[in-house]
Amino acid sequence: MPDNDTKALIDGLNEDLRGEFQAVIMYRLYASMVQGPYRQELRTFFANEIPEELAHAQILADKISALGGTPAGSAAPVKVVMEAKEMLEAALEAEIATLARYVKRRKQAEDANEHGLASEFDNIISDETNHRDELRQMLARWPY
Ligand SMILES: [Fe+2]
Ligand SMILES: [Fe+2]
Repeated sequence: MPDNDTKALIDGLNEDLRGEFQAVIMYRLYASMVQGPYRQELRTFFANEIPEELAHAQILADKISALGGTPAGSAAPVKVVMEAKEMLEAALEAEIATLARYVKRRKQAEDANEHGLASEFDNIISDETNHRDELRQMLARWPY
C-alpha cells in the first residue's frame, strides 16, 4: 500500500498527466486551426510541441503506474479559440500553470523519497520554461 506522501504524489502526478494530455490536444488543435499570415510558422511551432508534451505524459504515466496508481484517462479541458494571438495567450497561460505545478511536484517527489523522479522534473521544468519563453517572445511584439 502506498504511504500518504506517495498517495498525494500519485494524485498530483495524475493532475499533471491530465495537463500533458491537455497540452497535446491543445497544440494539435491550434496547429490545425491557426489561420492568417503567420499560419505556416505557428503551425510548425504548435506541432513541434506535441512530441515533447507526449514524452512528459509518458514519464508521468509510467511513474504513476510504478508507484501503484492508475494513470488518468482524460485530459484537462482545452480552451478552443480562433485567433492566432488568443492561441498564443492560451498556450502561455497553460505553460505558466504547468510550470508552477511541476515546481510544486518536484518538492512533493523529494518528500516521498522519489529522488529519481525529482531529477526527471528538472528536465521537464526546463522544457516547459523554454515553451513559456518562446510563447512570450512571440507575443512581445505581436503586431496587433
Ligand atoms: Fe509538458
Ligand atoms: Fe509545455
